[in-house]
Amino acid sequence: MVPRTSAEKALALLTQLRLLDAGLRIQAENGYTHIPLSREPFAWELERIRNDLPNVSLCEYEFIERHDKIVKLVDLLSDKLLPQVLASLPHAVDFVGDIAVVEISPELEPHKLAIGAAILKAHKRVKTVLSKSSPVNGVYRLRTYETIGGEARTRTVHRENGCVYHVDLAKAYFSSRLSYEHLRVASLVKEKETIIDMFAGIGPFSVLTAKTHANVRVYSVDMNPDAYELLRKNALANRVMGKVTPMLGDIRQVVNERLTGVADRVIMNLPERAVEYVDVACRALKPEGGVIHYYQFVDTPEPLDTARDRFAEALSQNDRRLLGISEARIVRGIAPFKYQVVVDAEIK
Ligand SMILES: C[S@@+](CC[C@H](N)C(=O)[O-])C[C@H]1O[C@@H](n2cnc3c(N)ncnc32)[C@H](O)[C@@H]1O
Repeated sequence: MVPRTSAEKALALLTQLRLLDAGLRIQAENGYTHIPLSREPFAWELERIRNDLPNVSLCEYEFIERHDKIVKLVDLLSDKLLPQVLASLPHAVDFVGDIAVVEISPELEPHKLAIGAAILKAHKRVKTVLSKSSPVNGVYRLRTYETIGGEARTRTVHRENGCVYHVDLAKAYFSSRLSYEHLRVASLVKEKETIIDMFAGIGPFSVLTAKTHANVRVYSVDMNPDAYELLRKNALANRVMGKVTPMLGDIRQVVNERLTGVADRVIMNLPERAVEYVDVACRALKPEGGVIHYYQFVDTPEPLDTARDRFAEALSQNDRRLLGISEARIVRGIAPFKYQVVVDAEIK
């Protein structure tokens, strides 16, 4: 249970961690909100919940079942697929605007069209179902998709944290699983700051930060021309063009030529390669220092320590000093025992 004032934040986090039991009713009582969990959280999830929601308490509670029927994929497909095939149905469906994205395992491949049709039936607002047909790769961090239901397209309009985003999943990186992280970073920004979003994509850190602050300047850089075009469109759609300056180019060159020594805060959301750009972030910060949000993929048993150490090691090669790490947290699980971690570091 959480105090009622934290209920919205708790729901966002538990949804993101896929811990919410949608079959049970959320209940309010004496200023507290009781939220049903579908399973016991893992240790790292618990750490994250305790970090983000210091007033949370985990307890037994008698929840009431929801009367409105939740349509489950497994129910829709139970007369079409064998039980052992049903057991491997995708647990996670990501929703980006009116597109649903799933991962189809090899044993489900012959049934992908039935799965696509079932998702369309279960989620009335979904118009397209895509299956991931490659891992995320390349400099632009893209993957390929196959349409397994509805209209064959990868463009949509997605709403997140009160902003609207034009997205093209095939042309520019976007993940709806980062929505809480976008919100968390934007909420740390202070008025009058200058921020460099080094790997901005279509702009979810930049646009939200500009939209939620009256007086900030955000330089949003990406080298993918399609991401840059969508970023421009999103800055305009959310009326933050001007506070946000979209820039097309390689961040190293952009900082060297135009953004040296200007930033109070730098966002480094390129988890597989951010370590190679710590020197660029150091150059981008004002001489008196500032904050770096450093992201990294980690597959070691102590992911937070590993990310902290890698960042500190990379920083030590520069003419900067680590004043402290205000937070290190797991952003999300990427694969079994592989995590995306963020380190918020104060630099002098
Ligand atoms: C993981 S995506 C991050 C997107 C965005 N921050 C978000 O939260 O949705 C990384 C982005 O960095 C861009 N990128 C990769 N290397 C770059 C570089 N050297 N300079 C500028 N952008 C780069 C890619 O094109 C990609 O859009």
